[in-house]
Amino acid sequence: MHDSSAPVISITFRHSCLTLLALCLMPVAVAVAGANSCIDCHAFAASRSLQASHVDWDGSIHARRHVACEVCHAGNPLEADKGKAHQGVYGALDPRSTVYYTKIPGLCGQCHVREFSDFQSSSHYRVLTSQGTGPDCIACHDAMATKVIGAEAVERLCHVCHNPGNKHLPEVGALARNILSRMEGIGRKIALTQERHDRESLQGLQQDKAMGFLNLASRELHASKDFWHTFQLQQMASRLDGVDRLIQQAQDALDDGRAGAP
Ligand code: HEC
Ligand code: HEC
Ligand code: HEC
Ligand code: HEC
Ligand code: HEC
Repeated sequence: MHDSSAPVISITFRHSCLTLLALCLMPVAVAVAGANSCIDCHAFAASRSLQASHVDWDGSIHARRHVACEVCHAGNPLEADKGKAHQGVYGALDPRSTVYYTKIPGLCGQCHVREFSDFQSSSHYRVLTSQGTGPDCIACHDAMATKVIGAEAVERLCHVCHNPGNKHLPEVGALARNILSRMEGIGRKIALTQERHDRESLQGLQQDKAMGFLNLASRELHASKDFWHTFQLQQMASRLDGVDRLIQQAQDALDDGRAGAP
């Protein structure tokens, strides 16, 4: 019985693995390293603002991962002539452009699938696409510099649209800063507790218990980070309370282990 069903299962399994792998690699594979007329010409473009946009990209993680101009702007990087290279490239204010503001989340979302799907569930996305008033990805991450934001910078970003002056949810900036800095702090606390666990050789059972709580805590921290683009800040804060409790339980287990040690 087992023997006859085993091959079927393994084929289905392998097939779904391959499909997943292809999905993950597909968008990134579009961008290949090598000669690229967009980069060659824009790096030495006459205008300062054009050069600046190249410098932004050049310093970004996308440049290091070979996500080049044509991936986001269309055009043909094999053509040296500007007109031919620019086929399909339009200014950002032109609705035909691949970087027209309503299209940006979907563009970035080809690769940042999780962020995009959470973002789509947010009211930011709804008002971005219906009224143009919500932030798109580049309002927070920049167009080509792709900044990771961090607790220090986030409040200023939110204040552009949420501030005491316009009375539109003025508190969310401080909340967002608080959540990001808690996430950073919790990450450090998990690492320290892990070190303590490795350093102190205690009774086996309490060690395992502590490790179990720590694993849960770091899984839950990652899940809360992933949840970020829904902008459900209260919900994130209470998930982080849960992570704090798990770390405390890990530390308690280590304390118990030390108390019970011979
Ligand atoms: C031979 C030089 C040259 C090449 C090759 C070139 N560009 Fe440009 N690009 C320019 C110049 C100059 C401008 C400024 C606007 C203009 O003169 O058309 C520009 C403007 C742009 C703009 C702003 C759009 C606009 O209409 O304002 C984008 C986006 C752009 N280029 C992307 C690309 C991409 C993507 C490629 C490769 C597929 C590329 N460029 C290849 C020279 C070049
Ligand atoms: C990860 C996607 C991405 C990559 C890669 C990228 N860009 Fe951009 N670029 C954008 C977005 C998004 C905008 C902003 C549009 C806006 O301001 O609304 C932009 C803006 C620009 C502008 C100003 C366009 C305008 O109409 O104001 C130029 C010029 C430009 N990019 C050229 C380039 C060149 C040249 C490269 C490669 C060296 C490149 N970009 C790589 C996403 C990208
Ligand atoms: C063709 C695929 C692709 C597209 C399109 C793309 N990215 Fe990325 N992006 C990547 C890869 C690959 C990385 C590196 C991921 C890593 O190292 O974990 C990355 C990293 C990032 C990071 C993290 C930066 C860091 O330093 O850790 C941000 C933020 C980001 N992208 C934002 C954007 C935004 C905003 C857009 C749209 C304007 C966009 N991406 C479009 C592939 C893409
Ligand atoms: C209102 C601001 C805002 C908008 C809009 C936004 N993000 Fe983010 N994003 C953040 C913040 C804040 C973080 C957490 C960064 C950190 O770890 O400090 C983040 C994290 C990320 C990361 C992980 C960076 C890392 O390595 O930690 C990626 C990738 C990303 N965003 C992509 C996107 C994409 C794609 C979109 C659009 C679909 C988008 N973001 C829209 C604020 C924003
Ligand atoms: C470009 C403007 C803009 C920026 C930047 C911006 N927001 Fe918003 N935000 C809005 C608008 C517009 C709404 C109202 C949506 C609606 O009408 O439902 C909103 C709504 C919200 C809500 C309520 C969500 C809900 O489901 O009720 C939260 C929370 C929020 N924003 C958090 C943030 C945080 C945190 C930041 C910074 C990381 C930020 N926003 C940056 C424009 C912005």
